[in-house]
Amino acid sequence: MSADMRAMQTSAIGARAILHEVTVTNDLPLLDNWATLVVTSPPYANNFDYADATRLEMTFFGDAVGWGDLKGIRRQLVRSCTQASTGHSGKVRELLSDPSLDPIRSEIEGVCSELKSVRETKGGRKPYHGMIAGYFVDMATAFQKLRPKCAPGVTMCFVVGDSAPYGVYVPVERWLGELAQAAGFGEFEFEKTRDRNTKWKNRKHTVPLHEGRLWIRG
Ligand SMILES: C[S@@+](CC[C@H](N)C(=O)[O-])C[C@H]1O[C@@H](n2cnc3c(N)ncnc32)[C@H](O)[C@@H]1O
Repeated sequence: MSADMRAMQTSAIGARAILHEVTVTNDLPLLDNWATLVVTSPPYANNFDYADATRLEMTFFGDAVGWGDLKGIRRQLVRSCTQASTGHSGKVRELLSDPSLDPIRSEIEGVCSELKSVRETKGGRKPYHGMIAGYFVDMATAFQKLRPKCAPGVTMCFVVGDSAPYGVYVPVERWLGELAQAAGFGEFEFEKTRDRNTKWKNRKHTVPLHEGRLWIRG
């Protein structure tokens, strides 16, 4: 990486990229029909706390000194971990009744109800049902915010993996593809790059998982 950077810095005249710092679930400060290509690596629905990672990164760069400087960050992030999710039954029901989930409602309700039952048998009682509901509402919102900013015929590449919290399988890439279509995008296909959860002896569950590129076009 440092060799690449040195090579670029000797030949580059100036930055050619224009950076917009945005939260993808908010309105995007971009012209309509602007993007012809979207390449992204969004959070996976696998309980990694990006607020914690952000705290580390911002502290390293001197942009934050403590949790106080990071107030509100967790609220802006896609809900992909239990720290950002609710286990409150009424709130989960509210999330699940969000109209953005209509295309996957029958399936996601079944998965969340199973997660809620399994939770009662576990010491940690993690609210994975709330995490999954929040994750798909947020990702559906992201597709809705992206649609007007993308030109007709856009190509989008989402690096994603599926998930099985408490061993309950969640078909992440298919559901994301269906939510993207409901937001007005066209065809989608998944190109697997590797299997996951096949090697380690201390796995929390043995459901085979994979990750790869979700291509969405149109
Ligand atoms: C799988 S990581 C990708 C990291 C990136 N490829 C990199 O090398 O830094 C997912 C990233 O999405 C960011 N993220 C989560 N919610 C977001 C949101 N609502 N808007 C924009 N970015 C978000 C996280 O902070 C995290 O940096």
